[in-house]
Amino acid sequence: MFGGDYNPEQWPEESWVEDMQLMREAGVNIVTLNVFSWAALQPGEDVYDFGRLDRVMELVRENGFMVCMATSTGAHPAWMARRYPDILRTDFGGMRRKFGGRHNSCPSSPTYRKYAPLLAGKLAERYREYDNIVSWHVSNEYGGACYCENCERAFRIWLREKYGSLEELNRAWYTAFWGHTFYDWEEIVLPDLRSEHVDERRSMHPGITLDYRRFMSDAILEGFELEYRAIKEWIPDAVITTNLMGFYKELDYQKWGRKLDFVSWDSYPSNEASYAEIAMGHDLMRGVGGGKPFALMEQTPSSANWLPFNALKRPGVMRLWSYQALAHGSDTVMFFQMKRSLGGCEKHHGALIDHVGTGETRVYREMAELGKELEALGGVFLGARTPAKIAVMFDWDNWWALEHSIGPSQLLDYPEEWKRWYTALREMNYDVDVIAPGDELSGYRLVVAPLWYMVKGEDDRSVRRFVKEGGTFVTGFFSGIVQENDLAVSGGYPGKLRDILGIWLEEWDALAADYENAFVYQGHTYPAYRLCDLVHMEHAKQVDEQGYCEDFYRGFPVVTKNEYGKGRAYYVATASSGEFYRAFLSDLCAEAWVEPVLRTPEGVEAAGRENENGSFVFLLNHTEEEKWVFFPWDGEELLGGDVLRAGEEVMLAPRGVMVVRK
Ligand code: GLA
Ligand code: ZN
Repeated sequence: MFGGDYNPEQWPEESWVEDMQLMREAGVNIVTLNVFSWAALQPGEDVYDFGRLDRVMELVRENGFMVCMATSTGAHPAWMARRYPDILRTDFGGMRRKFGGRHNSCPSSPTYRKYAPLLAGKLAERYREYDNIVSWHVSNEYGGACYCENCERAFRIWLREKYGSLEELNRAWYTAFWGHTFYDWEEIVLPDLRSEHVDERRSMHPGITLDYRRFMSDAILEGFELEYRAIKEWIPDAVITTNLMGFYKELDYQKWGRKLDFVSWDSYPSNEASYAEIAMGHDLMRGVGGGKPFALMEQTPSSANWLPFNALKRPGVMRLWSYQALAHGSDTVMFFQMKRSLGGCEKHHGALIDHVGTGETRVYREMAELGKELEALGGVFLGARTPAKIAVMFDWDNWWALEHSIGPSQLLDYPEEWKRWYTALREMNYDVDVIAPGDELSGYRLVVAPLWYMVKGEDDRSVRRFVKEGGTFVTGFFSGIVQENDLAVSGGYPGKLRDILGIWLEEWDALAADYENAFVYQGHTYPAYRLCDLVHMEHAKQVDEQGYCEDFYRGFPVVTKNEYGKGRAYYVATASSGEFYRAFLSDLCAEAWVEPVLRTPEGVEAAGRENENGSFVFLLNHTEEEKWVFFPWDGEELLGGDVLRAGEEVMLAPRGVMVVRK
């Protein structure tokens, strides 16, 4: 599928025919419609008007496009906000919002919970006979949070369900601290700037904030589920999604992923993003969908508008990044947007059809070429899975717990620390799956758990089993510190991981931003950043040469290894540089018998997918230079049709792409 968001409601009807023609000529075969039309579809409380959407749908069908049908509930109508202010959100500082912007409905608002699913149901009823609707797109980029009184009430109900009694809640929240004991559910208030928070990050009762985050993610998800059910009532086999946003802190996508029929997401890397950073978003999104292929729902063809500065994607980059999404498990290449609006804040956002209104633009030509190329490629790798032997653990609860913690260091950033491990693996062309704690690990050989600060419930079990049965496991500093309610574990860190790792961890030193310690691994000296754990060996052995090089904890081990069952568990007591992670992880991969997809020159990415049609290797030259790639096996290049022989070296053009079937 190739296409994206098209908003005909912003244009005079006479222009639609021409738009369709331009889209068709560019190879577009799918349009996402009706994303922001709530005000148009429901002009009054009891008035619905589908006339224009009917006409759009007819024309779209005549032109042979598939449709991704949105429900329009990402922005509510102004009249609704005026008549029912409960639909408006209250922000973190306690300010009740007015009508404006978008994504603006309070998830606990009775008005929203009534009218959003009602509209979704009416759309499903009306358009259910259109067999060109291939997917339903509920709302748009759900997000944010609300701190209104309805949300406060809903939070109390959520807590009652979770804890059962106030005694249990007081215990779980450790409310003896700073005299927080609650005697009545009504005493509980939302943790915001008026109550527990110093600022957006630091919470004086992080355990409460953690539960609020879980609750808010669930509350917003309920809004999705209401619409989901309303659609299924009319179309039981509808295929339903909502567009996610990668590393988006507010929503626990691992929970969301289970509720979507398939995962779709919007990839908007910043202008400075490395290719590994872009890949990381794709892998995370594939992971929340359980490893199944996902849909790239949006990317910009040229520039965004909302970054501090919005550089153009250089010629070839849009194509390169489209293939990168396919390489990591996408089965679509879709964009925001098909036609650039004349007004509103997105008039400076890239589109297939620019303000000039013709196909005579660089962006249009590049997209049309890609459209043709994808059409020629056909469906050969659709549905293909990533054959990863490495899993990297990611967890929203850990993100939240670290984010809202006061101490030990405000420089600690969960996704940043996570990225160090991921980037090293990606840069060496190892395919990885992103998994959640507790997930089944038996198909993997190496499991990496960066900054596993919070070990919840029985989440250590699958790791223990995995290592016992011969797997290689590695985690790093500041792991196993708290349990699921954010209470520190007693009896020695890293708590439940202690016997697996064969160490105990006494204290840690937080380093200033510009301060480094150092250690030596395999003859090279590497920096130690952020946090230095002071580790005592129990059954583990020291792997680094001499421990920390400086300070009073000089000589304390940095890298440790514990033989456990048939496997091994490593610990890295500090954060370090990319060179270290690459050197260390390639040693671990060798020990665990994991091979990279292909060895390539620097800046050339290789990623694999497999289905019943074969085993595919995507090669992506992220540099502006020609690169030579050596093939150790025979293959067939699908974009050019060339046959590749084992032992051959092939030139990859600057920003070039190859899709090779082994
Ligand atoms: C998001 C939204 C789109 C549009 C783009 C702009 O991805 O879903 O509606 O606003 O951002 O980049
Ligand atoms: Zn609210």
